[in-house]
Amino acid sequence: MELAVVILAAGQGKRFQSATPKILHPLAGSPLVDYPLAIARALKPRKTVVVVSPAAKAPLKVHLNGHGDAVHWAVQQRPLGTGDAVRAAAGNLRNFRGHVLVLAGDVPLLRTETIRRFVKAVYRQGGPGGVLTVERHDPSTYGRIVRAEGDRVAQIVEDRDANAATRAIREINTGIFCCEGRWLFQALQRVQRHNAQREYYLTDIAALAAREGNGLCAVQADDPDEFGGVNSRRELAQAEMLLRERMILHWMDRGVTFLDPASVILDAGVTIGRDTLIEAGVRLAGKTRIGSGCVIGQGAILTDTTLARAVVIKPYCVIDGAVIGAGAQVGPFARLRPETRLDAGSRVGNFVEIKKSRLGRGAKANHLSYLGDAVIGAGSNIGCGTITCNYDGRKKHRTIIGERVFVGSDVALVAPVRIGRDVVIGAGSVITEDVPAGALAIARSRQVVKRGRGMKNEGRRAKGKK
Ligand code: UD1
Ligand code: CA
Repeated sequence: MELAVVILAAGQGKRFQSATPKILHPLAGSPLVDYPLAIARALKPRKTVVVVSPAAKAPLKVHLNGHGDAVHWAVQQRPLGTGDAVRAAAGNLRNFRGHVLVLAGDVPLLRTETIRRFVKAVYRQGGPGGVLTVERHDPSTYGRIVRAEGDRVAQIVEDRDANAATRAIREINTGIFCCEGRWLFQALQRVQRHNAQREYYLTDIAALAAREGNGLCAVQADDPDEFGGVNSRRELAQAEMLLRERMILHWMDRGVTFLDPASVILDAGVTIGRDTLIEAGVRLAGKTRIGSGCVIGQGAILTDTTLARAVVIKPYCVIDGAVIGAGAQVGPFARLRPETRLDAGSRVGNFVEIKKSRLGRGAKANHLSYLGDAVIGAGSNIGCGTITCNYDGRKKHRTIIGERVFVGSDVALVAPVRIGRDVVIGAGSVITEDVPAGALAIARSRQVVKRGRGMKNEGRRAKGKK
């Protein structure tokens, strides 16, 4: 059977009170529209059409081009209702002969498996198509399913158009339909706007199908949480909580321990290896990948970062775009910026900032340092307070340090500069020239000691001066 997917995303999103189109608001780090798009991609349809408003088209295109998505566009000129929105996709599907699956842009918690089962059930039952329904304890605001006999639908009534008896129905329209394409577009030609909102309702195709014959089939799903529409910031926050909980349970089932699951924020693209421990208040964002047996300390924020196995991130680190090798330790209070690479067994301690630099195997920078545009060889030790002076006010320059180098405390490495292997650099040095392998370099003024000129000798000091 052939399938096309139409994603409705042209609504005004009035209740959202935003200058940004609703479908571009992020949920667990990804814009709302990415969720139906991911389902569409998994179904491998003949075509995917996103129906957008004129205002949302440009920003949406920018977003989707970044993701290399091959979707088709239909513009709904005015938000005249869900029926009109589907009709806007008719031109894109003129020569298409299969079934059309309609997904809303604002129902992000939907599972791909649920849709697969729904589409299969519609194919099996035949007829013009079907609607996916679910029972809710509180069905208010949703369209109600009025059943004919068995699995067939007599009509769908919007909350605002329903009388008390219809309002009591708990089976609701999830907004997801799968219909024979040619029938769908013909039926939509006949839909009127005699309703409370003066809109063309997609839901009216149910009554049309019933009048023609058997009607649409109603396929009931089990979990109402999958179908919560995101129409306001409140509903966005609810969806965020549900999705977060779902992801955390998913990783728990795969062997991850969470000390305080409710306080952890995960993005949808994150993966975590087994026997990893996540402490309270951790945030894992973007495409962060955590290996097995790691510990992520309290309050750490990791974005687009990759950790191999057995990495320990101590509390309150902020790490963005880093790649960290097996057994490395970081923090507490470290900041790793993009293109930081820590090789296996290396250590970064408190109040260390690293940018675009590589720390070789077993190398250490344990206290109060800034390392930028640097390469530090395996086994080297960067003393407390060491700084790479990588910026001369115009350009960035590199610092290259060989293996097994000992850099004493409070050293300034004025880049560009190269330090050979097995070098020792004395504390407090300002290194402006390259140092050859095996050498000792000291670059500071010699200490001066004047006896008897300390604090308790004010009188003599004054006399001495005369
Ligand atoms: C819709 C259904 C309702 C169902 C609910 C499930 C209709 C008339 N009502 O109501 O039965 O219970 O979804 O969440 O279909 N859209 C457009 N163009 C428009 C109007 C809407 O593209 O002119 C898009 C919206 O961007 C959204 C989707 O269609 O993605 C649903 O529209 P919305 O206004 O949120 O409908 P609901 O009132 O939630
Ligand atoms: Ca909605």
